[in-house]
Amino acid sequence: MTTYDVAFVGTGADPESPDASGFAMAYHHAAAYETIDACEPVACADIVPENAAAFADHHGIDGAHVYEDYAEMVREADPDFLSVCVPPAIHAQVVVDAIREGDLAGIHCEKPMDLTWGGARRMAEAAWRHDVQLTFNHQRRFKRPWVAAREHIESGTIGDLERVEMTPPNLYDWGTHALDFAGQVAGDRPAEWVIGQIDYREEQQYFGAHNENQAYALWQYDSGVEGVVSTGKGGSLVPAFFRFTGSEGVLDLEPEGTGADLRYRRDDEAGWTEESVEDRDWTEDIADAIADAIECIETGEEPTLGARNALNSTEIIFGVWESSRRHGRVDFPLDIDDNPLHAMVESGDLTAEPPEGDENAGRDDEEGG
Ligand SMILES: NC(=O)c1ccc[n+]([C@@H]2O[C@H](COP(=O)([O-])OP(=O)(O)OC[C@H]3O[C@@H](n4cnc5c(N)ncnc54)[C@H](O)[C@@H]3O)[C@@H](O)[C@H]2O)c1
Repeated sequence: MTTYDVAFVGTGADPESPDASGFAMAYHHAAAYETIDACEPVACADIVPENAAAFADHHGIDGAHVYEDYAEMVREADPDFLSVCVPPAIHAQVVVDAIREGDLAGIHCEKPMDLTWGGARRMAEAAWRHDVQLTFNHQRRFKRPWVAAREHIESGTIGDLERVEMTPPNLYDWGTHALDFAGQVAGDRPAEWVIGQIDYREEQQYFGAHNENQAYALWQYDSGVEGVVSTGKGGSLVPAFFRFTGSEGVLDLEPEGTGADLRYRRDDEAGWTEESVEDRDWTEDIADAIADAIECIETGEEPTLGARNALNSTEIIFGVWESSRRHGRVDFPLDIDDNPLHAMVESGDLTAEPPEGDENAGRDDEEGG
């Protein structure tokens, strides 16, 4: 059996008090590796030495393999697999440096891909060029009620999928999970264009990244399926977190006010059929996500959480912001390098006021965004 020495970049401080200023996601990644016989945690790096030392202590990592500098760690500890759990502004930098410095089989990086569209592309291209498997922690593809909804759609419960509408709180921090899952259900195809508008009047930053207060956008995948997203005040667009419309019916995932996890209404049936699907702790979805990434290294199959699929949804996120900046439809491939929302804040085109009170107001669950 192949074994994988696993290293971690960005350990975090305290997994017991998760919020938008720090979930210590590396602890959740480490718990996942501990369930896989082939994986052995061997090294960790954090620019805050106490964080790395506490993490090493907790996971039985030798003190000689605790680093402040992740590049030095990759060179010296020579891991086979890397978990990247730093803030999004340095995801691409860490991934590209680690690919250059090490001899890695795979990297599992936290979402969102990177703070810029250029960074997202560069990390994917570096991984492809050097034959390193790169996956992103869009673990909601493994969330049980979401899997049940996807299986219904794939088995034809509502006919051929024509449209997916969704209402995440924002496009980037949380929305990356929603857009990723929508993309999976729509067949993991790239979009051809997007048109959207955003509002950003009160500053809202998660993990050091601006997130709009409200967005509304329409796009089309190259399969012909349409996507619609409404964030913030427009969250009542559809009475569910996701509404999937097909040629023969409609399926709602997380429908409002029903107590059910999903419901569907076929055109040839009267009324809704509701279903409850037993969920589990979100960290178990992470365990499945990481197990799938390791298995794909073994089989050589393209992982469902791979960079190609992540780029498809990330292009839509940056595309909506770019559409707002350009005041028009954006045709893909997206030909920018930056983060349009950050650029508009920096240029003064958007003037978000500092929030009143708790900076994490509006984040209503402890589950990772
Ligand atoms: N998948 C999910 O559901 C989910 C949930 C929460 C957070 N996240 C994502 O996880 C990532 C990390 O978030 P977190 O909550 O674990 O953050 P955190 O603050 O708890 O941990 C990040 C750690 O990175 C360290 N760090 C920063 N720069 C570094 C560098 N150059 N080298 C080494 N270490 C460095 C920090 O010191 C900190 O200890 C973010 O991208 C966030 O969006 C994902």
